[in-house]
Amino acid sequence: MAKAANLLAFLLVLVFNLSCFSSFAWAARDDSVYESFLQCLESNTNPQDQISDLVYSQNNISYASVLRAYIRNARLNTSTTPKPLIIITPKQISHVQAAVICTKKVGYQLKIRSGGHDFEGISYISDVPFFVLDMFNLRSIEVDVKNETAWVQSGATLGEVYYRIWEKSKVHGFPAGVCPTVGVGGHISGGGYGNMLRKYGLAVDNVFDAQIVDANGRLLDRKAMGEDLFWAIRGGGGGSFGVIISYKIRLVSVPETVTVFRVERTLEENATDFVFKWQLVAPKTDNELFMRMLLQPSTSKTNKSQKTIRASIVALYLGKAGTLVSLLGKEFPEMGLKKENCNETSWIQSVIWWANYDIGTSPEVLLDRKLDSASFLKRKSDYVQTPISKDKLNWIWQRMIELGKTGLVFNPYGGRMSEIPATDAPFPHRAGNLFKIQYSVSWKEAGSTAENEYLTQTRKLYSYMTPFVSKNPRRAFFPYRDLDIGVMKAGKNSYEEGNVYGKKYFNGNFDRLAKVKTAVDPENFFRNEQSIPTLPCKA
Ligand SMILES: Cc1cc2nc3c(=O)[nH]c(=O)nc-3n(C[C@H](O)[C@H](O)[C@H](O)COP(=O)(O)OP(=O)(O)OC[C@H]3O[C@@H](n4cnc5c(N)ncnc54)[C@H](O)[C@@H]3O)c2cc1C
Ligand SMILES: *[C@@H]1O[C@H](CO)[C@@H](O)[C@H](O)[C@H]1NC(C)=O
Ligand SMILES: *[C@@H]1O[C@H](CO)[C@@H](O)[C@H](O)[C@H]1NC(C)=O
Ligand SMILES: *[C@@H]1O[C@H](CO)[C@@H](O)[C@H](O)[C@H]1NC(C)=O
Ligand SMILES: *[C@@H]1O[C@H](CO)[C@@H](O)[C@H](O)[C@H]1NC(C)=O
Ligand SMILES: *[C@@H]1O[C@H](CO)[C@@H](O)[C@H](O)[C@H]1NC(C)=O
Ligand SMILES: *[C@@H]1O[C@H](CO)[C@@H](O)[C@H](O)[C@H]1NC(C)=O
Repeated sequence: MAKAANLLAFLLVLVFNLSCFSSFAWAARDDSVYESFLQCLESNTNPQDQISDLVYSQNNISYASVLRAYIRNARLNTSTTPKPLIIITPKQISHVQAAVICTKKVGYQLKIRSGGHDFEGISYISDVPFFVLDMFNLRSIEVDVKNETAWVQSGATLGEVYYRIWEKSKVHGFPAGVCPTVGVGGHISGGGYGNMLRKYGLAVDNVFDAQIVDANGRLLDRKAMGEDLFWAIRGGGGGSFGVIISYKIRLVSVPETVTVFRVERTLEENATDFVFKWQLVAPKTDNELFMRMLLQPSTSKTNKSQKTIRASIVALYLGKAGTLVSLLGKEFPEMGLKKENCNETSWIQSVIWWANYDIGTSPEVLLDRKLDSASFLKRKSDYVQTPISKDKLNWIWQRMIELGKTGLVFNPYGGRMSEIPATDAPFPHRAGNLFKIQYSVSWKEAGSTAENEYLTQTRKLYSYMTPFVSKNPRRAFFPYRDLDIGVMKAGKNSYEEGNVYGKKYFNGNFDRLAKVKTAVDPENFFRNEQSIPTLPCKA
C-alpha cells in the first residue's frame, strides 16, 4: 500500500514536472529575451527617451489593445492567431534604428506595421516567433504647397494625408487609395493606387525622396541609399528592404470643382450590355475620368425570389458635370447619364463620398482612425487584357449567382498608366492591361464554417476566371496580398519559392528586386511570407 502510494506520488511529480517543464522553460526564455532586448534598446537610445515605455510584452495589460488597434481583418483576431512576443511603438527615428539593431541581436523576426491593412495580416502575424514594430506614432505630415510636395511619415493614414493637403490648398491632392484608414507605410511601399490613376499614375509615380532604416540600423535618404534601393521601395513592398520612415510626395493639381456619380443596372436592365460597353470605354476615355465597376450577386428589384447581378459604376471626373455628360453622351450613350445623376463638389468632398460618407460631411471624418474595428475579409486579384464577350460575361454571372456572395470590382487602367514604362517602378502592370479585377468578399459571422465557405467560393470564382485573364504569369496586384498564390515557408530564403508569387506581382521586375535585396540585406533580416528573396549563390 505504502509502496503504491509512493509510486503514485512519484508519478504525479513526474507528470507535473513534464507538463510544466516546457511552459516554465518557454516563459523563462521569453522573459530573458524581453530583458536582453530592453537592455539593448536602452543602451542604443537616449536615457530621457525612456524607451521601455514604448515596449509592450505579452503580460502587459495594454498589450491586447495595442495589438488590436490596427488589426484590419477580423479573420486574424482570434485566440489562436499567432501573436508577437513584443510590440515596439517608436516615437523617434532613433527608436526604429535601435529596434532593428536589437531585434537582430536577439535573433527574432521583425514585422513592421503602419496602417495594418494587409489583407492577410502579415504585418502583425507570423509563422515563426516575432516582434512587431508598430509605426502609428510616426505620423507627421509636412505640406509644402509652394513647392507642391509633402513629407509624410509611414504611420500616417491616407485620410490624414488628404486632410493636411486640403487644409493648405483646395486645388491640390494626391493620387492614392480611396480608403482613408490605409497606412502610408504599406500603401506607398507596395505601389498603391486610387481613383486618379488614369490621370497621375500610382502613388509611387509621385514620389521624390524617402527615408529608410536599413538592416544595419542606418538612416538613409534617396541620395544615401542610391537609385536601386529607391527604385525598389517604390512598389517592391515594405518589409523586404528596411523600415520606411517617410516619403516625399508630389502634390498633384485637382480642379476646384470635380464630379462624382453612381449608376446601377441589374441583369433585367441589360447589365451585360452595360458591362461589355464599359470594358471598351473605361480604359480608353479621357484621363480625367475614372469609372470603377462593381459587380455583386443580388436579388431582382421586382421579384425578390429572382437572383440577379447588380452592376454599379462609381466614378470620379476631374471636371464639371456638363462636360462629363456630353463626353459620356458620345462615348457611352447606353448609360444615359444626366446632370441630375451627378454631384459637382470639391476634391476633398469627392474623397469623402468615395469613402462612403455623404457629401457635406465634415473633412474631420478623414482623421478618424477607427481603431480596433474590422470585418472578415478575403481578396484576390487578376488583370484583364482583352474584353470579355457578352456570352462569357453571362456565363460568369451564372457562376457568381451560384456561389452567392463573392463580388468583383473592375478598376480601369489606360491613360497615364499606359504611358509609364513597366520598368520605371517595381509595379509592372502598365500598357496592355485594360483593367484589374479585385475579388472581394467580406462577412460578419465569426468561425471557421463561414470562413471556409467564403474562402472556397472566392477561390472557385478565381478558378472560373482563368480563361479571361492574363497568363504566363497570371498577374496579381501586390497591395491586394493573397497568400494563395504562393508563400515563402517559415524562415526560408528561397529564390524558387519567391519566384512563384514574385513573378505574378512584379513580372519582369522580380529579378531586379532580388538583386537589390541581395545588395542591401544579404542576411535576409527583413523577411515575411511573401518577401523578396536574395539571389541564389553562384556555384
Ligand atoms: C479596407 C481596405 C481598403 C483598401 N483600399 C485600397 C485602395 O484603394 N488602393 C490600394 O492600392 N490598396 C488598397 N488597399 C490595400 C492596401 O493598400 C495595402 O493593404 C497596404 O499594404 C496597406 O498599408 P498599411 O500600412 O495599412 O498596411 P500594413 O498591414 O501595416 O502593411 C502592409 C505591408 O507593408 C509592410 N510595411 C508596413 N509599413 C512599413 C514600413 N514603414 N516599412 C516597411 N514595410 C512596411 C508590412 O510589413 C506589410 O508587409 C486596401 C486595403 C483595405 C484593408
Ligand atoms: C505596460 O507597458 C507600457 C509601455 O511599455 C508601460 O508604460 C506600462 O507601465 C506597462 N504596464 C504594466 C502593468 O506593466
Ligand atoms: C477583436 O475581437 C474582440 C473580441 O474578442 C473584439 O472586441 C474586437 O472588436 C475585435 N477587433 C477586430 C479588429 O476585429
Ligand atoms: C522642391 O522639391 C524638389 C523635389 O524634391 C526639390 O528638388 C527642391 O529642392 C524643392 N525646393 C524647395 C524650395 O524646397
Ligand atoms: C434593354 O435592351 C432592350 C433591347 O435592346 C431594350 O429594348 C430595353 O429598353 C433595354 N432595357 C433597359 C432597362 O435599358
Ligand atoms: C420570380 O422569380 C422566380 C425565380 O426565378 C420565378 O420562379 C417566379 O415565377 C417569379 N415571379 C414572378 C411574379 O415573375
Ligand atoms: C448629391 O449630394 C447630396 C448631398 O449628399 C445628396 O443629397 C444627393 O442625393 C446627391 N446627388 C446625387 C445624384 O448623388
